[in-house]
Amino acid sequence: MILDASDAARMHHADPVMVEEILAFVSHRLLEPEEPLDGLADRDRLAASLDGLICENGRDFREVLAIYENDLAPTVLSADSPRMFSFVPSAPTKASLLFDMVVSAASLQGISWFEAAGAVMAENQALRILSDLAGLPPESGGVFVSGGSAANLSALVVARDTMRRRRREAQLPDLPLRVVVSDQAHSSIANSLNITMMTALVVDTRATDGVLTGQSVRHALASDPDPSDICAVVATAGTTNAGIVDDIVSIGEVAREHGWWLHVDGAYGGAGILSARVRPRFAGIDRADSIVMDPHKWWFSPFDAAALLYRDPRLAAAVHTQDASYLDVIHDGDINPSDLAHHLTRRARGLPLWFSLAVNGINAYRDAVDRGIDLARYAARRLSERSDCMLVREPDLSIVLFRRRGWGEADYAHWSQDLLQRQRAFVTSSRWRGEVVGRLVFLHPATTEEMIDEVIDALG
Ligand SMILES: Cc1ncc(COP(=O)(O)O)c(C=O)c1O
Repeated sequence: MILDASDAARMHHADPVMVEEILAFVSHRLLEPEEPLDGLADRDRLAASLDGLICENGRDFREVLAIYENDLAPTVLSADSPRMFSFVPSAPTKASLLFDMVVSAASLQGISWFEAAGAVMAENQALRILSDLAGLPPESGGVFVSGGSAANLSALVVARDTMRRRRREAQLPDLPLRVVVSDQAHSSIANSLNITMMTALVVDTRATDGVLTGQSVRHALASDPDPSDICAVVATAGTTNAGIVDDIVSIGEVAREHGWWLHVDGAYGGAGILSARVRPRFAGIDRADSIVMDPHKWWFSPFDAAALLYRDPRLAAAVHTQDASYLDVIHDGDINPSDLAHHLTRRARGLPLWFSLAVNGINAYRDAVDRGIDLARYAARRLSERSDCMLVREPDLSIVLFRRRGWGEADYAHWSQDLLQRQRAFVTSSRWRGEVVGRLVFLHPATTEEMIDEVIDALG
């Protein structure tokens, strides 16, 4: 079929009515007093409304937008609702959401200095703030990638290849490498090890209340026949399930003694470095070789953005820089964002955080993180006051794990379904050491104590 040139031209020409109506739709969402929870999917209805929608000829945009608004959007759980207490919620600032639209409207890329100097410099300014707050040295640097999983993978590739290079230089044989991880590490770490063909030395943290410590690592090493193939250790600064911050200082000491790479996964909890209430728990993070902190989690940015920081970005560039003749022009001496992870083309996804940090100031971020911690402490107190509930542990950050005495999986599922059906909250259970438990995560500063009361009162 020969494409009609006039059709092709039409789709690249902005229809002022479409621009206006889509912006009005977006304004409405941004100005809603409370983000709707939604998430009630009826797959048969969805299938019926999408059936045959895309065909050879286009449709009126209003018809398609109405399908999105009426049929699709209500089935998508709003991670940014202040009533979202499951998984790891998101709570992007309005400034970050608005600037995300600016990035989208220009399809702004942030691949290299050559192509996108202003975007790269602004992203680097935001990364500098994060690095400084973590206490990394001035020569540290990094890149925004799509999420914590991508960041963990990219960092562990650098850890692996840096060790391989050192071994080569020392004329030691190449061998499959291992990484020390806690039994509480995020699932993306196991995934990364699988992809990179490394294996884990898993440290049992039952004796240390879920916290990985230098002592527990030493204990695991003592019963390991030959730890010379270990290249790295992963400390988690805020485990996803329970919000536990590992003892980074003592883990860092073991890493230094053995010449291991110290990777700190703060994808969820890293923002705790902003809060004077919990900052001491992050002691030792300044010794990390790489750190992950997700702006799309507790740094109040929209999906999808994870900050990946390296103590020495040159080590990452040595591993990740892509070499192709058509790219020679972008390799003009400076390290590019695309050189620091397993990607090439990338959106300037750090700019929403950059804009919001500049507009709101760091103190507003400190307050917002403090608020999540306070809400978790409030929920923990309310649960402890009930004779039928028991905390699994006191929250380190903003995640509360608890037992409702006498409840099994079906009871938690009913609690969850009922609250969602009534659009009061979204809660899900989890497991702690095999036992089904309740789990509540707080990020959104607009969550109120009353919203928490409703969730806890629904426990019967
Ligand atoms: C500690 C930790 N690491 C990694 C991840 C993965 O991040 P993402 O979902 O952005 O890939 C998460 C997600 O919750 C996390 O909490």
